[in-house]
Amino acid sequence: MIYLDNAATTMRKPQEVVDAVVAAMGSLGNAGRGASAGALDAGRMVLRCREAMAHLLGCPRADHVCFSANSTSALNAAISGLVGPGDRVVTTVLEHNSVLRPLARLADERGAEVAYAGCDAHGFLDMDDLERLATPGTRLVAVTHGSNVTGNLVDVARVAELAHAVGALVVVDASQTAGAVPLDMASMGLDVVCFTGHKGLMGPQGTGGMAVAEGVEPRPWAEGGSGVHSFERRHPLGWPTRLEAGTLNAHGLAGLAAGIAFIEKNGGPAAVGAREHELAQRLYEGVAGVPCVTVYGGWPVAPERCGGIVALNVDGLDSAEVADALSAGWGIACRAGAHCAPLMHRALGTERQGIVRLSCGWFNTEDEVDAAVDAVRAIAAS
Ligand code: ALA
Repeated sequence: MIYLDNAATTMRKPQEVVDAVVAAMGSLGNAGRGASAGALDAGRMVLRCREAMAHLLGCPRADHVCFSANSTSALNAAISGLVGPGDRVVTTVLEHNSVLRPLARLADERGAEVAYAGCDAHGFLDMDDLERLATPGTRLVAVTHGSNVTGNLVDVARVAELAHAVGALVVVDASQTAGAVPLDMASMGLDVVCFTGHKGLMGPQGTGGMAVAEGVEPRPWAEGGSGVHSFERRHPLGWPTRLEAGTLNAHGLAGLAAGIAFIEKNGGPAAVGAREHELAQRLYEGVAGVPCVTVYGGWPVAPERCGGIVALNVDGLDSAEVADALSAGWGIACRAGAHCAPLMHRALGTERQGIVRLSCGWFNTEDEVDAAVDAVRAIAAS
């Protein structure tokens, strides 16, 4: 099988990640609960992962990295924990439903006012539109760092500048970029960065969380066991406890720590991302200009602002038919259909056809990419 669905999950993991999870499952107790050797080892493991994640994201405080099950849970927590009744929020048409739906709920239930910045014909965020919509008093700007449909990157440092100029906080969805595109919260001025562990970070599914800048204080999203202050009636507000109720996934976090170590060993996010970019660019160049193939996203105009994704369609064919043909004929795994990003599809005019998304990862090879190019050409020719 040729796996080109790394934007959905990096199915092939470094062996170190697998080994770390297996070892953790045989040795770790419950982090922060009790003082047995296993509990302490679990606590140390979680701390190691927190510190590694803080370093990777440029978050000055490791205790402000709070773990949850994935970026969806983190985005829900960040958004609902920061937006109050009647607040104005600006987001973009590039967003995934993990941003759009929590905001829709806040609009319905708390009267939040949500505005959506548009994009250009290549799917790049229209920064002028975002600036226009971010009016004084806006509470929050919620923006992706990279579209999960096209792979187009967003200049989140610029978004933070615009947000802060009107007194708003900025929440970044780094689901598609953490581990593969450098982020530095401190110098970029990012207030919250939400991440998932199982994509670019190469860790297990069921890991993720958010890193929060000092002075930003989302309300707890869930209350429960914390291992500390058991007699307090409400959930403690200290860090990282305020955003971590219940037993942590220490087994998964052991794998995530190993994934981060693998990335660092291979040169860090810039080097890993450069490799993925190189493969995606080769893929793009192989399919660009092929009769009947439409490529979406920024590759033709600004390849330096593209990630590891090539999004395409073959004229007249439903994207699912193309994905099925790639799988059946060439053993190529990709994702088709709507990618939980309805406004992006609407902007690109692909609500009905969906999009065939081929997404490169660290473990892909040039030969695999060339095989995918040949397969797309053959489908288009037929
Ligand atoms: N959000 C993931 C994707 O884009 C699952 O495929």
